[in-house]
Amino acid sequence: MTTTHPSENQSYVRGVAPGALPLLGHAPQFLRDPLDFVTSLGAHGDIVEIQLGLQPVLVACARPLANEVMQRCDVFDKGGHFYDTMKGMLGDGVGTCSWSAHRRKRQLVQPAFQRAKIGAYARVMHSEVASLVAGWRTGQTVDVSPAFYRMATRATVRALFSSDLEATAVAEIQRCFPIVWRGMLTRMLVPASLLRLVATRGNRGFDAALASLNQVLADIIRAYRTAGVDHADILSALLAAEDEATGLPLTDAELHDELMTLLVGGTETTSATLAWAFHLLAGHPEVERRLHAEVDEVLGGRIATFEDIARLEYTHRLVTETLRLYPPGWVTTRLVTADTELGGHHLAAGTAVMVSHYAIHHDPSVFPEPYRCDPDRWLPERASTIPKDAWVAFGSGRRRCLGDMFALTEITMALATIAGRWSLRPASDRPLKIQPRMFLTPGSLPMTFTARPAGDAQAPAADGGS
Ligand code: HEM
Repeated sequence: MTTTHPSENQSYVRGVAPGALPLLGHAPQFLRDPLDFVTSLGAHGDIVEIQLGLQPVLVACARPLANEVMQRCDVFDKGGHFYDTMKGMLGDGVGTCSWSAHRRKRQLVQPAFQRAKIGAYARVMHSEVASLVAGWRTGQTVDVSPAFYRMATRATVRALFSSDLEATAVAEIQRCFPIVWRGMLTRMLVPASLLRLVATRGNRGFDAALASLNQVLADIIRAYRTAGVDHADILSALLAAEDEATGLPLTDAELHDELMTLLVGGTETTSATLAWAFHLLAGHPEVERRLHAEVDEVLGGRIATFEDIARLEYTHRLVTETLRLYPPGWVTTRLVTADTELGGHHLAAGTAVMVSHYAIHHDPSVFPEPYRCDPDRWLPERASTIPKDAWVAFGSGRRRCLGDMFALTEITMALATIAGRWSLRPASDRPLKIQPRMFLTPGSLPMTFTARPAGDAQAPAADGGS
């Protein structure tokens, strides 16, 4: 049987990126300025070979090929060092598992993210946004990156387990998860075997936090199973899910792995988007003015609720544009599982392939002035001229983000509420040190808060939930 692929009837050029150094390959360029490096590759071909250390990697630069890689999940599968390291620490959840296991896991986790369920999670987000803004005072300078990260972690944890019985456990997860997350990023770059040779305080802290996190998750799962109550949260939905073929629910180990996956997927991505949005607003007074006009009209200084989202149209366009300019998931990798073709070129099993969402989003043939922040690109009449596969902030195909609605709800509510009350300006004129690691984040972002006349900045945030 022959299978047709989207790129089959076009010719695509295969190239090699210049400037590889012996042994290091393009690693120095990739580490020095990864965003510039990934966007420059398209000039050398549609599929471009780069060398990361001794490992050759093919980058699918042409948009149709990049999307083909994301969509043919069976041949372009998740695998290799990056995913193995993640699995070693977080378990084998829906985000990291290989294609053979994916269908079952996705079918079991997806119901927890149905549109109808997001409204309940939005109540948690509402209260977390309220606590965030209640703590700020005019003239205060706050590093918004860690502040948004703490809020996103709290919101995700409380959407996972909303039961009051678990308050201490939830606090322990909020304490341990950031330690595990930071440690995991280090372990992606430095082999664990090497780290183990040096018994540092950081190592012991990581081990203790991971052990505690695993224990707390096991305890929560046991408590939920024993109580057998639907708490209208994500864990309750996961416990209720059944395999469509066998009727079997998720095992405790599978539940653990999915909870870890959702903690990873749902925290830094969301907080980075919020931080990027405020970075953009500070540099684009006209965009800020229009955002203020909208949130003043819709919210009048209130904390946004789930029901407000449909009316926050400009806010939504700004979030879409922020995710275009700074997609937190800026690259992804796949491993070819069987000899195949891409764009008419042979790829042997075992080939590593990379796709850059960031490069796709900065293609000037699709997005004129690609580095300009222009939320009105997403006005319906203009957006209809943008190819569907040119905005891939949440990925594409069967492995597209499961938490897109969850994320957009949280980001929109937080952005609109904060902008309704505060104007944020960078506390210094030092240029940003963009940090594309696992996710694209702005790094440290100290900003000074000024209360807005329309917002009731000093008022306690007790204006009722959604
Ligand atoms: C702005 C926020 C977010 C962005 C930009 C984002 C982006 C992405 C991207 C690009 C992928 C595909 C990765 C790949 O193809 O290799 C993905 C997958 C995933 N995301 Fe998100 N994500 C966000 C928020 C969330 C949230 C809030 C959750 C859950 C609470 C979540 C859970 C997941 C999961 C479980 C997957 C794996 C899906 C699968 O393989 O079937 N994400 N995300």
